[in-house]
Amino acid sequence: MAFSPLSVGVIGLGGIAGGLHIPGYRLCEDVVLAALCDVDPETLARVGAEEGVTRLTTDYRALLADPGIDAVSVCTWPNTHHKVSMAAIAAGKHVLCEKPLAMDATQAREMRDAARSAGLVSGVGFTHRLTPAAHMAHDLITDGALGELRQVSAVYSFGWPNVNDRPWSPLDSKALSAGGALYGLGVHIIDMVRWWTGQEITAVCAQSRTFVPRRPLESTDDWRDVDVEDTATFLADLSGGGMATFSQSYVRTGVDFVQQIEVSGSVGALIYDQARPYDLQVCIGERMANISAGYGIYAPMWSTHHPETLFPMLPVPQVYRDAVPGAREGQPLRTFEPAFVDAIHGLDAPLLPTFEDGFHAQCVLDAVARAWEERRWVDVPTD
Ligand SMILES: NC(=O)c1ccc[n+]([C@@H]2O[C@H](COP(=O)([O-])OP(=O)(O)OC[C@H]3O[C@@H](n4cnc5c(N)ncnc54)[C@H](O)[C@@H]3O)[C@@H](O)[C@H]2O)c1
Repeated sequence: MAFSPLSVGVIGLGGIAGGLHIPGYRLCEDVVLAALCDVDPETLARVGAEEGVTRLTTDYRALLADPGIDAVSVCTWPNTHHKVSMAAIAAGKHVLCEKPLAMDATQAREMRDAARSAGLVSGVGFTHRLTPAAHMAHDLITDGALGELRQVSAVYSFGWPNVNDRPWSPLDSKALSAGGALYGLGVHIIDMVRWWTGQEITAVCAQSRTFVPRRPLESTDDWRDVDVEDTATFLADLSGGGMATFSQSYVRTGVDFVQQIEVSGSVGALIYDQARPYDLQVCIGERMANISAGYGIYAPMWSTHHPETLFPMLPVPQVYRDAVPGAREGQPLRTFEPAFVDAIHGLDAPLLPTFEDGFHAQCVLDAVARAWEERRWVDVPTD
């Protein structure tokens, strides 16, 4: 089907813009990357030259004032997501905004409401939905293959090789990023659990720490305070009656990157590991559950048996691999731009997280932060 070409702009030209958003638009047919914006003139000039884009500005309002721009990606730090997205919506642009959607649920609610009442397409960069194993886990759970969902355990941690000495970054600043590991990492697994289960997180109880309270500034002798949590854990009630634990950290020793989610239901269970994007551990149906459990009990008696995984590892079918943008061209890229463009054209974009999803995840973040501050259970608002 032929669609009229779209002109798009990207605001904020750092890591995520260069890694996913600009290459994502390049995968779309009939989309022109027409304008770029960054407050840093050097970054702006460099990316403009690399991308062959000449409409360059350090002021997002100038980009949004251009009536020829149909849609924008907002790839700045969280402290500007609300003001840039609200201005974009007021200017009639569709908006794909990075996560976390905003600094708090009040801002996120305003963004959700504004996009909704303007009838514009919204998207949020919950990138990990596009991991083939995560997509398959979603479909198995949605089809009811695990039965009634009982227990979820979700972990997302970074350590980096220099866990205690890595330089200070905007991730360590409450003013720029709203929070630390919970806001930067936890928000992804909160979205994943909401998306997989179709359930809301209704109440939380939490703890947090800042284990490394100061970090060196890159290329200087100065140090800066870390005023956000570098580690957080919370318990959650799910609206379907199940229970969940979430653990996230920026200082996980000996770990570069780990994202794992286990879901256990009345007749099945699965284990997703981001490190194995094309495999999913699955145990489905009462018979398989009993065999799997029995196998575990008797395994030590069979000296030759050394199970590497708890459940059988299922290769993720090709259909899920092909759902990743660029996969058919041999360059899979977990980018939402193609789905965002499809939604603008009125096509189905079932994987695209919207501002509605960003808002609900933000409500959980706010409630978790309140729970650790007040050391008690906190209900999560539903709207
Ligand atoms: N979806 C994911 O998996 C994922 C991964 C990394 C980062 N992110 C998110 O992407 C966002 C940006 O992160 P990053 O790692 O790309 O940061 P970054 O520091 O690499 O880039 C941010 C850029 O925004 C620019 N900027 C800041 N304020 C601006 C403004 N008002 N107008 C125009 N430009 C402005 C900065 O100069 C910088 O170039 C954050 O919200 C982060 O949480 C998402």
